[in-house]
Amino acid sequence: MKLLVLNGPNLNMLGIREPGIYGTESYAALEAFVRDVCAKNGVEAELYQSNHEGDLVDKIQAALGTADGIVINPAAYTHTSVAILDALKAVALPAVEVHLSDVSAREEFRHISYAGMACVKTFAGYGFDGYRLAIEYLVEHYGK
Ligand code: DQA
Repeated sequence: MKLLVLNGPNLNMLGIREPGIYGTESYAALEAFVRDVCAKNGVEAELYQSNHEGDLVDKIQAALGTADGIVINPAAYTHTSVAILDALKAVALPAVEVHLSDVSAREEFRHISYAGMACVKTFAGYGFDGYRLAIEYLVEHYGK
């Protein structure tokens, strides 16, 4: 199984940005964590982070025919981006939404998730472990 693991804006600042909310570990540590989970599950992974909405849309489109599923933390674009929602709908690959923090317990504007409307499952508030849960969910339900 091949998965695209996408991370949106400011996640490259992990470890520096609001450590009380997002923890003290870096984006490089998150990548290492995800690669380890993928290896343990026999999954081939492409990891990508961008601060730009269109780049994320391009990457989702490119997953069509090349990936079997998507793990996505759209970060702030979660709450604003109809373009990312439409891209996920367009490719119609099984997608799982991840948030490090529990967005439902934060500001009201974080309670809406456009991307989530095209996802089969959401894991929020589990830190890095949310990515493990997402990968294992896709392997269990869509693996081959
Ligand atoms: C986030 C939550 C979003 O509301 C926020 O804009 C982020 C990160 C999370 O992983 O908890 O950048 O997606």
